[in-house]
Amino acid sequence: MKGIVFTEFLDLVELKFGLEMVDKIIQQSTLESNGVYTAVGTYRFHEMLQLLTNLSVNTGISIDDLLLVYGEHFFYVIETSYSGLLASYKDPIEMLSSIESHIHVEVRKIYPDAELPTFLVQEKTANSLIMIYKSSRSMHYFGLGLMNRTFAHFKSTATIELEKINEDGTEVRFIIHKN
Ligand code: HEM
Repeated sequence: MKGIVFTEFLDLVELKFGLEMVDKIIQQSTLESNGVYTAVGTYRFHEMLQLLTNLSVNTGISIDDLLLVYGEHFFYVIETSYSGLLASYKDPIEMLSSIESHIHVEVRKIYPDAELPTFLVQEKTANSLIMIYKSSRSMHYFGLGLMNRTFAHFKSTATIELEKINEDGTEVRFIIHKN
């Protein structure tokens, strides 16, 4: 997992819960990196899972809810650092249906070792989209946060339903209706 995902996560934890919480979750985890991350480095996903799990235990907020808020926050990172990629889109449905065929293809050019999910488009109309998310990392709530902000970016809103295909969330159907 890319370092930017860790640095932005810890920044958000500091903002919402304070620096003590950042120190606490790092201390509660067994981290090869010792909790020191650089944006361009690459670290084991297992480290993120431990940080998330400990934050969830300490705050009583579920991992899914933490990932949702983190996904919404991460969209601002995308708007700031990858605005060029967003500029080629005028519509949220067009953008989301192009994650697999364009957006993450470009991400892989920047970070060849990025661990990305797959998003298979199952059905698409001008105002609706059904996609299947697949990833061993089960970060579908992070995806939901990114999708919510994608609609906000285009000054629009949507109703997005998640249907787990696998109990462990490694395969999830996203049913998206633009309002
Ligand atoms: C310009 C737009 C985007 C950029 C630059 C971008 C970039 C990235 C990066 C850098 C990662 C981390 C890879 C790693 O840690 O190795 C990632 C992961 C991810 N991205 Fe994107 N992304 C974009 C748009 C989106 C959108 C719109 C979605 C909507 C669902 C999305 C869904 C995800 C998910 C769910 C992951 C977590 C990894 C996983 O589930 O396996 N991305 N993306």
